[in-house]
Amino acid sequence: MYILAIETTCDETAAAIIDRNGVVLGAAVASQEAVHQVFQGVVPELAARCHLERIVPILQQVLEEAAIDPISQLAAIAVATEPGLPGSLLVGLSAAKALCVAWKKPLIAINHVQAHIYACQLGQLTSIFPCVGFVVSGGHTNLYQCHAPENWTYLGGTIDDAVGEAFDKVAVMLNLPYPGGPQLSKLAEQGNPRSFRLPRPMLSDKSTLNMSFSGLKTAVRYKLVGNGKHDFADLNLPDQLRADVAASFQQAAIDCIVGKAELALLRTGLSRLCVGGGVAANDPLRRQLQQMVQRRSAELVIAPKELCTDNAVMGAIAWVKFNANQTSTLETDIQPGLLRGK
Ligand code: KG4
Ligand code: ZN
Repeated sequence: MYILAIETTCDETAAAIIDRNGVVLGAAVASQEAVHQVFQGVVPELAARCHLERIVPILQQVLEEAAIDPISQLAAIAVATEPGLPGSLLVGLSAAKALCVAWKKPLIAINHVQAHIYACQLGQLTSIFPCVGFVVSGGHTNLYQCHAPENWTYLGGTIDDAVGEAFDKVAVMLNLPYPGGPQLSKLAEQGNPRSFRLPRPMLSDKSTLNMSFSGLKTAVRYKLVGNGKHDFADLNLPDQLRADVAASFQQAAIDCIVGKAELALLRTGLSRLCVGGGVAANDPLRRQLQQMVQRRSAELVIAPKELCTDNAVMGAIAWVKFNANQTSTLETDIQPGLLRGK
């Protein structure tokens, strides 16, 4: 039997068909990058409309790829119902409910942030739980003590921007196309991370696992334009300077992430760190997290790169709920806000 998982929390329309061992029979992601690029960020209404256009073709594509008979071979239909953009979430949930009615299948509502952490489980032979779970993405930058896939305690998180959001905003200042995180990282390869002195907000405060990235972003802005109100496109920055700014920003952001991850391991006494979310695809971050856990004789599990950014394969977490008979009713609603856990 298989689960069909649907993901439409932000700007990626995705579906996947997964068996109970995490084996993927079909998976597809339709990105909306080209639509939002003009605005240098996600426009919620456009995101919802794009999901509406793409959800049926994506479902058709994965069903064809998996070559299964949904009526006899699907155990359930899973969909991410929280957290996310309301309009985007509604499209995925409506599609899932319609299929549940048509095929007489149970619905399983899943939490997108828990799914990002669960992406670390896929491909592992033993359980990753208990662990410190760290989600670093465009919408979230949060630390959890994860007792089990769906049982977590919130430890701390960003008090303003998510780290991916800071990458994207700094990328705009460097005239890189949206979403800028991967492009900024590429540019940083040519730069010197020590060329600009940038702050590491809240890093030295060992009394909290909270983080902050908006001040770092603003500090980059001041390095580039001072107090003036320039349009970044008019700045005509030399390539080496852009690369140096990118490398210095990236290193400051990584220091903050690695430092708080280490503090979370220390505070919880846990020896396994699991990291997911789009920014976890960043190579220098992956390397420096690995060096930190090695120093502490701890273990690092990072989601495979292709499962860091939004996808439906990480919806495999739905199997945990299915096995525990935790299905949802067809009255299930979306929960756009982030539930910080118990
Ligand atoms: O997990 P995700 O697809 O969406 C959310 O749930 O938010 O994460 C997208 C974020 C974007 O901010 C993107 O710029 C960032 O992840 N990102 C990266 C890299 N790849 C994606 N940031 C830094 N380095 C990367 N290689
Ligand atoms: Zn995400």
